[in-house]
Amino acid sequence: MDQSKTTRTNLPTTLEFNLANGQFFPSPHLDVRRVSDLAAVFSDQEAVEKAISDGNPIVYEIRHYPFLTEKTDMALGSSMILPGTVGDEYFMTKGHMHERDDQSEIYYCVQGEGFLLMDDMKGEFQAAPWKPGIITHIPPQYAHRVVNTGCVPLVFVSTFHVSAGHVYGAVIEKGFAALVLRRGGKPEFIPNPKR
Ligand SMILES: [Fe+2]
Repeated sequence: MDQSKTTRTNLPTTLEFNLANGQFFPSPHLDVRRVSDLAAVFSDQEAVEKAISDGNPIVYEIRHYPFLTEKTDMALGSSMILPGTVGDEYFMTKGHMHERDDQSEIYYCVQGEGFLLMDDMKGEFQAAPWKPGIITHIPPQYAHRVVNTGCVPLVFVSTFHVSAGHVYGAVIEKGFAALVLRRGGKPEFIPNPKR
């Protein structure tokens, strides 16, 4: 994680968070992920190519703030996933596992509806239904991804340790146990053919 724009301090830090759009201030780090950045994780590659040629829309934005002290480095993240699909597959985050196998994370849904997918890649898979006010603890060694199945932006907040690290290999190669597809206007879970 890039920490260059944040000052190390042992003093308390207070941020202002906007519940409606997931932005907080100050917000030194912003990443924007478009369909082309997520091409490998969507199942329908023809739909990926079409979406890219039709304007390559933004799928989600992530902001994060590392609270760097002399003793420990916690971080706050917030993500805003736009409503939409690539083919039939709902917009979602890329998903990741933590580089460190002893690091968990807490996610808090503040707006929208969808699912938090958690997969230990060894047979344990859960999809937590999400709406505003739902908080989920993601244990260590679980891949995690959020899917927006609603018609408004899905906003969630995360807290984690800076040293947790992000790894994407398993998520890109194998994906999660289920795909979340829009069928008849509603989400449906389909077993992932790659698994
Ligand atoms: Fe994470």
